[in-house]
Amino acid sequence: MGKLRLGVLASGWGSNLQSIMDAAAAGKIKAEVAVVFSDNNDAFALERARKAGIPARHLNPRNFGSKDECEKALLKLLNEHGVQLVCLAGYMRMVGKVILDAFPNMVINIHPALLPAFPGLCGQQQAWDYGVKFSGCTVHFVDEGMDTGPIIIQAVVPVYDDDTADSLAARILEQEHKIYPEAIGLIAEGRLKLNGRKVFRL
Ligand code: GRF
Repeated sequence: MGKLRLGVLASGWGSNLQSIMDAAAAGKIKAEVAVVFSDNNDAFALERARKAGIPARHLNPRNFGSKDECEKALLKLLNEHGVQLVCLAGYMRMVGKVILDAFPNMVINIHPALLPAFPGLCGQQQAWDYGVKFSGCTVHFVDEGMDTGPIIIQAVVPVYDDDTADSLAARILEQEHKIYPEAIGLIAEGRLKLNGRKVFRL
């Protein structure tokens, strides 16, 4: 069985992208990053991809007449690189019907909170502001909703009295870098079964 070809979509720093590239390069997962895409030309994620010798592509959504038009161009790009699994890693846009229909149950995301708590932007800050004692991160399948798809893996992180929003975010990020490659590895080995909202490990 060949390696699962990943298309990673990232808008910013790209530390999750890095953890995926590192796991792939170390042979820890049967997957390879085929292309990295960003909607933001300044994203450091693109730089990380180039450094690793991986195609790094940018499209400016503002140059398209509609979201569908932009996604069609993105889909073409993903297909050109033989992408099988789309991984959102700090991608600041909602993925729409064009991409979701083209990759049924093959679009995943990492969210920095224990879903369904604190979906949307700044999950770490939301959890911190709320005053929870535990937070964490979630890898999930992507559907049309905002962080609403079936949950693949979660990691729990304690919140300490002397934490700040930043120290909590750093503790969560450390776990993100573990569970995202782990989830990709499970999909690459065909070891996940989806039954309604529930995801089982085979
Ligand atoms: C992460 O916290 C991720 O969970 C969220 O955006 C952040 C991206 O970080 N979706 P990075 O760009 O991977 O460093």
